[in-house]
Amino acid sequence: MRPAKESNKGTAAAEVFDLRSDFISRPTAAMVEAMVAASAEKPAIGFREDPVVSRLEAQSAELLGKEDALFCPTCTLCNQIAVNAFCRPGDILLTPPKAHVLTSEGDAAAVLSGVRAECVEAQRGAMLPAALEAALARQAGEGKARIGAVLVENTHLRAGACAVPEDNMKTVAELAAATGVAVHLDGSRLFNAAAFLGVGVTDLTRHADTVALSLNKGLSAPLGAVLAGSADFIAVAVDIRQRFGGGWRPAGIPAAAGIVALDQMTGCMADDNENAWSLARGLAAIEGVSVINQPVETNVLFVAVDRPGFDREGFLDRLAGKGVLLMPYDEGTMRAVLHKDITAAHIDGIVGIFEGAL
Ligand SMILES: Cc1ncc(COP(=O)(O)O)c(C=O)c1O
Repeated sequence: MRPAKESNKGTAAAEVFDLRSDFISRPTAAMVEAMVAASAEKPAIGFREDPVVSRLEAQSAELLGKEDALFCPTCTLCNQIAVNAFCRPGDILLTPPKAHVLTSEGDAAAVLSGVRAECVEAQRGAMLPAALEAALARQAGEGKARIGAVLVENTHLRAGACAVPEDNMKTVAELAAATGVAVHLDGSRLFNAAAFLGVGVTDLTRHADTVALSLNKGLSAPLGAVLAGSADFIAVAVDIRQRFGGGWRPAGIPAAAGIVALDQMTGCMADDNENAWSLARGLAAIEGVSVINQPVETNVLFVAVDRPGFDREGFLDRLAGKGVLLMPYDEGTMRAVLHKDITAAHIDGIVGIFEGAL
């Protein structure tokens, strides 16, 4: 359960249910307090000297089961640092289809690292072992591009926010290790995956060399992400972060919120997953409405409406006017993401507003 339910009553956001993303979730009162306290601390000049950042990094490394961790402004940057560290220009990055690194990171792997991504067939975000094995086997071929790294996304957003099972991650890690290829885990929403799978996060992270975790999604910190890996990897990552413009200083204030996120929020993702399931049930019961990523596993739904003359943009505007914000998404769908500011008590009301706006 969450440490404390915080009401929006009395704020400008009182009647607004913003489901466009979980990064929209507000920092908790404890995070705000921690940031105020950190603002009184003397900031450090060196990259790895700030005491609050160091605390967050040590806590992240321990939580994710790695030797060291690095605080970064975004999870995109964490992913791109890993790609750059593992791959040389001309290398191939193997990913499941529609990974965030392919769809939403501005082709950074190609532009910043000279890396071409190649998709490995997957089901619900989990790469098919035979397809991965075949892709990795080409490593040995003469004159062929080297496979630089394998990327796993868990949860896999565009596959339906599916949780990639531990045994699949284990198989992927074994296949990659057999050919000497590193595995990077884009675990932007890793705690949602672990909550659904009923495992600890280290049961998942042990099958990856490096891990990226967003602090600002379900964990509700105002911004930031951490990248974890071996001490040697993080030493390299510090330089790449700087090269990519992510050497932020002083970062103690956002780091303070990140510490609270890791202390207090990681156990709350089951609530968001459950709220997503009940919202999915409520919406799917409305005539002409379907939730296309059934069964919903974690905190994201993709919703479609099949009614004569349905105009998605007009509908989203009407819905927004009634205080429910959804995001227009791929292939004519709409996205709803559950997070701490949407509680179980809100779900029936949101379903009612959705139905009323149709
Ligand atoms: C799976 C996944 N990876 C990475 C990111 C990037 O996160 P950021 O917005 O912090 O760059 C996102 C953002 O939504 C995501 O969904």
